[in-house]
Amino acid sequence: MSRGGKAHNWYYDELKQVGVDYTDKIMVEEYDSDMQNLRDIKKELEEISTSISLKADQVIIEIGTGTGEFGIEASKYCKKVIAVDVSKAMLDFAHEKAKMRKRSNIEFVHGGFLTYTHQGELADVVITQLALHHLPDFWKMVALKRISKMLKDGGRLYIRDVVFPSGVEDYDGFFNKIINRLEIEVGAKIAEETKIHIKEEYSTFDWIMESLLTKAGFTLDEIKYYNEFLATYVCTKKKSS
Ligand SMILES: C[S@@+](CC[C@H](N)C(=O)[O-])C[C@H]1O[C@@H](n2cnc3c(N)ncnc32)[C@H](O)[C@@H]1O
Repeated sequence: MSRGGKAHNWYYDELKQVGVDYTDKIMVEEYDSDMQNLRDIKKELEEISTSISLKADQVIIEIGTGTGEFGIEASKYCKKVIAVDVSKAMLDFAHEKAKMRKRSNIEFVHGGFLTYTHQGELADVVITQLALHHLPDFWKMVALKRISKMLKDGGRLYIRDVVFPSGVEDYDGFFNKIINRLEIEVGAKIAEETKIHIKEEYSTFDWIMESLLTKAGFTLDEIKYYNEFLATYVCTKKKSS
């Protein structure tokens, strides 16, 4: 299903892939199998469920759902998941997976941070993992303000993303060390994708992320920086005045 809003012609084109191409079917299959191998999805779900206090009566929007692993599992513990992604190939893959796992309370919507238009009951939670960095900083702010409008007052926003630390003296050394370590620990493909990420995608600094979230109307409840350049933010939407 498509539910993209009408954008102005000066709007950022979020359907155009930046960095790693997630519109390619083979790439999508490989992404899913890499993530199954590299990530502890069950542990992620447990951590996120605790952070956002996941409940049976909640509506969750997941933006940048990818191959749907989180949304599909989360749908077992809430009323409804709306899984949004700009890549049709990702959505088709995730949809098939949901059918195989017999999940019916998950809706797949073709759209993104800047184009998904939420309809119906406001959401209790918006979650996005490893996706917001696809937008340049100005558009991250636009996205966060749009997310705020999708949420109930007091609704929660959970973000996991690649975020760069601001306190590094030598970024060449910092990134070379990460790339070399990834090459040894998880192989050349992930190391290569990390290079593309640094070079072409829009991960930003920790202090910029914190400031964007605050200025977009969120209270920062929990912030975690780990594994050199990963971050999680658990936020609450401030009450509208
Ligand atoms: C690295 S994958 C992460 C997928 C999944 N969230 C995960 O944790 O495995 C990034 C996903 O974000 C999607 N994406 C990129 N730009 C987006 C945008 N502007 N709005 C929504 N999704 C976007 C891509 O199509 C891709 O599925």
